Amino acid sequence: MAKLFTYLLFFLAIFLIISPVLSLPLKIGFYQKTCPSVEAIVRSTIKTALINDPGSPAALIRLHFHDCFVRGCDASILLDSAPSNQAEKDSMGNKGVQGFQVIDEAKAKIEAQCPNTVSCSDILAFAARDSVTLAGGHYYDVPSGRRDGRVSYMAEVTKNLPDAFFNVTQLKENFARKGLSMEEMVTLSGAHSIGDSHCSSFSKRLYSFNKTFAQDPSMDPSYASFLKTKCPRQLNTRTGPDPLVPFDPVTPNRLDNNYYKNLKSSRGLLASDQVLWNNILTRRIVKGNVNHPRTWAAKFAAAMVQMGSIDVLTGKQGEIRKNCRVVN
Ligand code: HEM
Ligand SMILES: *[C@@H]1O[C@H](CO)[C@@H](O)[C@H](O)[C@H]1NC(C)=O
Ligand SMILES: *[C@@H]1O[C@H](CO)[C@@H](O)[C@H](O)[C@H]1NC(C)=O
Repeated sequence: MAKLFTYLLFFLAIFLIISPVLSLPLKIGFYQKTCPSVEAIVRSTIKTALINDPGSPAALIRLHFHDCFVRGCDASILLDSAPSNQAEKDSMGNKGVQGFQVIDEAKAKIEAQCPNTVSCSDILAFAARDSVTLAGGHYYDVPSGRRDGRVSYMAEVTKNLPDAFFNVTQLKENFARKGLSMEEMVTLSGAHSIGDSHCSSFSKRLYSFNKTFAQDPSMDPSYASFLKTKCPRQLNTRTGPDPLVPFDPVTPNRLDNNYYKNLKSSRGLLASDQVLWNNILTRRIVKGNVNHPRTWAAKFAAAMVQMGSIDVLTGKQGEIRKNCRVVN
């Protein structure tokens, strides 16, 4: 009897030790009982943000991507730097990321209704989904139950995010490290159908490509001439202006397959966009997306769900932040 008791105590101790690290799968409707209006609150906040700023859906989709690729979708990108720590958002790799105040607004409304219940990482995932839908993409259900991380390091950003001058091999490897396929990489790159880029992210393609070509020969010359009117040759990103240029000059705020049509006509903005057409393996996928816009939209929605599940914290891991900018 005493022996049985010892065994039970032993297993109880083991359970108590491992339970905080046990992770659970994400679940559609995770807040159905605890905060039934959460998704409606996020949606109305995103709608209002869109009225004030047509660029907000692009900002929020990129914010979710940059969150998920660094330490998983744990809202680490939302944490502010502290005197003792430089956070992800202050890395050069996060140049131009915006949308933080939209998430703050949604969080404040949600805390007023359901305090200490909904994670910032789930709010960001819902916000990205609503942004996709409002920009013209497919609706998709967002599995939720993410928890918020407690750390954010500036130094982890550029090691985990793809670079705008990566070739297909590098892009493929970068996405593979996050559990995403080459096809998902091409599918998700279609997000560059909306939003804009600073000249500094691509101006090397216009003025100082390589030793042989000042201008990237894979870019349509008339598109390059147009971009040169927007982007000054002498770009000093510290002191001078660094103008913004839309990714898709045709339908800049519409999440559609025009991005792939642009690649086909050598009008990809970033080098990492255009290589998807220039590489034989990915060109096949780009062609498919040019010819089958609805299939691409469905693949995009599915790939966003995949991206939203990268290295998530669940169960008792992490915490539910009260304020998305600081740990509890
Ligand atoms: C494939 C590798 C990728 C690279 C190299 C890349 C790189 C970049 C760069 C350099 C910018 C412009 C930043 C600036 O200068 O302001 C940008 C913007 C953007 N990226 Fe990506 N990106 C990639 C994939 C993705 C993915 C997977 C998504 C989302 C699913 C995404 C969504 C966006 C959006 C929406 C913008 C515009 C943001 C805005 O207007 O506020 N990107 N990206
Ligand atoms: C891609 O870039 C890497 C690193 O610069 C290089 O080693 C590799 O050969 C390149 N691959 C292709 C297909 O160009
Ligand atoms: C410059 O780029 C072109 C086109 O990508 C390439 O064919 C050429 O080998 C490159 N030249 C040098 C010196 O890297």
